[in-house]
Amino acid sequence: MKLFMFAASLRQASINKKLIRVIADKARQLGHEVDLAEFSEFELPLYNGDTQDNNGIPAAATAFVKRMQQADGTLIASPEYNFSIPGILKNLIDWVSRISPMPWQDQRILLCSASPALVGGNRGLWATRMPLEACGALVYPDMFSLAAAYDAFMENGQLKDAALQQRLHNTLEKFLLLLQKLAS
Ligand SMILES: Cc1cc2nc3c(=O)[nH]c(=O)nc-3n(C[C@H](O)[C@H](O)[C@H](O)COP(=O)(O)O)c2cc1C
Repeated sequence: MKLFMFAASLRQASINKKLIRVIADKARQLGHEVDLAEFSEFELPLYNGDTQDNNGIPAAATAFVKRMQQADGTLIASPEYNFSIPGILKNLIDWVSRISPMPWQDQRILLCSASPALVGGNRGLWATRMPLEACGALVYPDMFSLAAAYDAFMENGQLKDAALQQRLHNTLEKFLLLLQKLAS
């Protein structure tokens, strides 16, 4: 399988970037091909219908769609902002949704989050499902949320907690199994 992955954070020391790197490592160990993107590769202006009318769809949105559609599945690690989806991710979803045919349609997506709080950013993922599913994406039912994430990583980048490592491994394997079933 080919997997497209990114964290929805621009911050250099982002805990969601750390989490997506752990997931990318696991996927590679399981023999899958990973395209790990930086969100900064897809920085877009704030959606404005006049900008679209005057300049068309920004090249960054088209580039994002190409990367996503070259993969069998997309994995997103996203922060929770005010119990919801971060603006940069919603803005990306909105720009991409203006492309025809709808690029999100039937995309298989696994949502993950990391947060310093004890809920682990899970509420933000529920809010993230809504626009993705509205656009026709197949968002995997299970989601992985990493709580207390400022203290969750070892120096080598792996998760400290073995039980959480296993839970992440199981979530990823189940998602990959579904991708394989859908591909056959
Ligand atoms: C505008 C804003 C709102 C936030 N709201 C929440 C929140 O609702 N829940 C939460 O767990 N953390 C919240 N946080 C804290 C983030 O989880 C924390 O900054 C985290 O490090 C962001 O992810 P990143 O490190 O990948 O950039 C918020 C942070 C910002 C900047």
